[in-house]
Amino acid sequence: PAAPLIDPFARPIRYLRVSVTDRCDFRCAYCMVEDMQFLPKRDLLTLEELDRLSSAFIALGVRKLRVTGGEPLVRKGILTYFRAMSRHLVSGALEELTLTTNGSQLARFAADLAACGVRRVNVSLDTLEPAKFAAITRRGDLAQVLDGVRAAQAAGIRVKINAVALKGFNEDELFHLIDWCGGEGHDLTFIEVMPMGEMAEATRLGQYWPLADLRARLAERFGLTDLPDSTGGPARYVRLQETGQRIGFITPLTHQFCESCNRVRVTCTGELFMCLGQEDRADLRAPLRASTDDAALVAAIRAAIARKPRGHDFDYSRARVAGQVSRMMSHTGG
Ligand code: GTP
Ligand code: 5AD
Ligand code: SF4
Repeated sequence: PAAPLIDPFARPIRYLRVSVTDRCDFRCAYCMVEDMQFLPKRDLLTLEELDRLSSAFIALGVRKLRVTGGEPLVRKGILTYFRAMSRHLVSGALEELTLTTNGSQLARFAADLAACGVRRVNVSLDTLEPAKFAAITRRGDLAQVLDGVRAAQAAGIRVKINAVALKGFNEDELFHLIDWCGGEGHDLTFIEVMPMGEMAEATRLGQYWPLADLRARLAERFGLTDLPDSTGGPARYVRLQETGQRIGFITPLTHQFCESCNRVRVTCTGELFMCLGQEDRADLRAPLRASTDDAALVAAIRAAIARKPRGHDFDYSRARVAGQVSRMMSHTGG
């Protein structure tokens, strides 16, 4: 077997996030601009190319594959890709095939995804109030997402809810979100909003809600037990002693989880980003298209991993937002 991917800081790369489209049926304020211009379809990797690229990473030791977007379920023919990837689950090469979705199309896809071996799905849901949901997503329908979540559960897929923590927006729903997830049996992860894209800096600075503060509020009402890492993602989990439920914190701003980073991202055009919070990238589409043999592709992947940075520089504490990357979150799929 090929030598596994190890970066310059001795971190093995076992988690690949593949963005299959830059398109989305929502326009979440922290992710996109309202009049988002999407890529022409001809720039996208085909489903066959996405298969080849993902399979090359799996041959190099990737064990966890997360499909992202934009919204992955709006990519035409996406089940073909999931079916192709499920062969790596069957062979035992891949340990987890999963996706992060806004949930809008989940009702339609849940059963087929389950049949492809998807056991867990992360659904982005920042608020349980329909009007606020419509406002933050600019065009989402909360009821449709909740239907999707129920369909996933009915298909035997575990759901984790991702809520971006936004001061003045969902602060007041903290305990409602926790109660609801507890009642429905979903894990819940809170995410610090990252300074990406074109959103007015002032807006984001005003909405930045440090999760240490959120955690302190939880501690006033619940006993918290720290749990060991379990999903291989950046979240750190606690158990609420009173209810037994799991709550995760993703804290790129207040705590750098980069030292245990195990992941890289590929965009729908075949760019490899070694870090979400840096601009450096490598083009994998050219070597992919240059030959049907994977040698050049594998060489390009290894060369890129050899320059994976130690971490990101996101930081709200300086006068200007330092470390801001100008591309939007939807470009790399979070
Ligand atoms: P699990 O498999 O459930 O642990 O999922 P995950 O947290 O790895 O994936 P998900 O797509 O749910 O991502 C949740 C949040 O974590 C998103 O806002 C991502 O942008 C963020 N995130 C994931 N990996 C990184 C990372 O390497 N750096 C930073 N800064 N954020 C990350
Ligand atoms: N900061 C933090 N999380 C974000 N997401 C999208 N944009 C941002 C941002 N600027 C989240 C989505 C989704 C996940 C992939 O990333 O809500 O759950
Ligand atoms: Fe779409 Fe997700 Fe971005 Fe919202 S955060 S616009 S649902 S890709």
